[in-house]
Amino acid sequence: MCVVSTTDDRLRRLDEMRDRALLGGGVARIERQHAAGKLTARERLDLLLDPGSFVELDSFVTNASSRSADDGEVYLGDGVVTGHGLVDGRLVFVFSQDFTVLGGSLSEAYAGKICKVMDLAMKVGAPIIGLNDSGGARIQDGVAALGGYADIFLRNVQASGVVPQISLILGPCAGGAVYSPAITDFTVMVEGTSYMFVTGPNVVKAVTHEDVDAERLGGALTHTTRSGVAHLAVPDEAQAFDVARRLLGFLPQNNLENPAVVATDDPGDRADPELDVLIPDDPSTPYDMTDVIRRVVDDGELVELQPGWAANIVVGFARLAGRSVGIIAQQPAVLAGALDINSSIKAARFVRTCDAFNLPLVSFVDVPGFLPGVGQEDGGIIRHGAKLLYAYCEATVPKVTVITRKAYGGAYDVMSSKHVGGDMNFAWPTAEIAVMGAAGAVEILHRDAIATAADPAGERAGLIADYEKQFGNPYIAASRGYIDAVIRPAETRPRLIGALDMLANKRVNGPRRKHGNIPL
Ligand code: HXC
Repeated sequence: MCVVSTTDDRLRRLDEMRDRALLGGGVARIERQHAAGKLTARERLDLLLDPGSFVELDSFVTNASSRSADDGEVYLGDGVVTGHGLVDGRLVFVFSQDFTVLGGSLSEAYAGKICKVMDLAMKVGAPIIGLNDSGGARIQDGVAALGGYADIFLRNVQASGVVPQISLILGPCAGGAVYSPAITDFTVMVEGTSYMFVTGPNVVKAVTHEDVDAERLGGALTHTTRSGVAHLAVPDEAQAFDVARRLLGFLPQNNLENPAVVATDDPGDRADPELDVLIPDDPSTPYDMTDVIRRVVDDGELVELQPGWAANIVVGFARLAGRSVGIIAQQPAVLAGALDINSSIKAARFVRTCDAFNLPLVSFVDVPGFLPGVGQEDGGIIRHGAKLLYAYCEATVPKVTVITRKAYGGAYDVMSSKHVGGDMNFAWPTAEIAVMGAAGAVEILHRDAIATAADPAGERAGLIADYEKQFGNPYIAASRGYIDAVIRPAETRPRLIGALDMLANKRVNGPRRKHGNIPL
């Protein structure tokens, strides 16, 4: 006899399946997740997205095609929750890995769910936020899982520079899986519960005989102070979601839009007399460049990225008259602000991020040059420094520069000079634009005169004073038009805002080519 399901039966079945999908790997594993200090995949989405805005897709995709179902355990959703929602009213696509299902490990079907939301995000031009908490490739699935990762990597690359991509690391992220976050624009890690490494401590021990724990090898501190892999570390998951929302606030939905202009009560014509006395009289005395930046930007708000890594350069987002800008600035308080390998890499990547998403670049320059030394040369400072030079040359967004003090040598050229396409180049009266600092120059130009002088120390001091008088100022560069205006430090904010207003409709048509060949 054929039994026909009633509509009630069908609705009941749908409700049952929905309830089952909500439970992921089951109550016991959810408790284990909480005991580990972590939220579940769905709790995370509730905290990240505007209330009630989440629309789930593919909740009935299962692991049936995965070898993990061989023992008969079938999970609705297959270990990842995907869909779209709103962040501060703006559409975003999300995937949230569910550690309670097979350790959040990735199967072919699971990868397919992530690829589907990535494809949709690219189609409609909306950001992608990935919540990562996974044991990596599902071991039972072998190459099908590896292929699934590669399908995601390909989309990470296709989406790069098209829609913003943010990776939140909320648990393990191991093996080749780390390369998806590595391709995205921003990686945020939670202290104590997240880690990223290509191979875990056991493999490290077997291969290199090094004893290291997961925290040291790939914890949040390691990746925000030693490797530069992550942009920010936060103490808990809720703050990771705050960071994601804040970052999105500075960015457009996609590369064809401009970031939203945010209303501010901070007057555009606000002068700050404190800036006039901020630069120390002694050119080798450090000061904190973030003081300068905060005095200039709207409401003193600077969202610094990678603050604990390559701290000799500051990169971050701020606003000027409500408009999002990318700030790149030397930090004289660290390594005298010299450009080294890591600071070049850090700033080059940031310049390209801003250029991709239509954020003007505002550079504050106080640079004594590239850091000399065998270590830097052996490490390829030429190759890495070239990245920053290339990135500034290539960027077509408005580029505005303020030289606060030193701009020496090749680093003068690199740091958004007029010659590499700086649109508006300002200098403070304290600026020194020269091939090198006075002490080094005098030794090269006047070695014999100093050596044969009756009073070598006095001779050297006199020559240094002459050099500083001749070159330790911005007026030679200004006389050639390399500096558009020497400004009072106090008036930096209105001058920058005026320049950005003037440049708002900047258009650049480069020659046609497939892509440039940045020295990677
Ligand atoms: C299948 C996995 C799994 C995996 C974890 N599980 N990882 N199942 N494939 N990769 C399962 C466990 O069997 C367990 O199932 C549950 O998830 C929770 O795991 P536990 O080990 O109990 O949790 P915990 O102690 O917190 O340890 C988490 C972990 C550990 C550190 C992630 O599970 C681990 O080391 N997993 C393997 C990590 C790894 O090497 N992955 C492959 C990386 S290579 P039950 O049923 O007991 O709950 C890779 C290649 C990507 O990913 C290539 C891209 C190109």
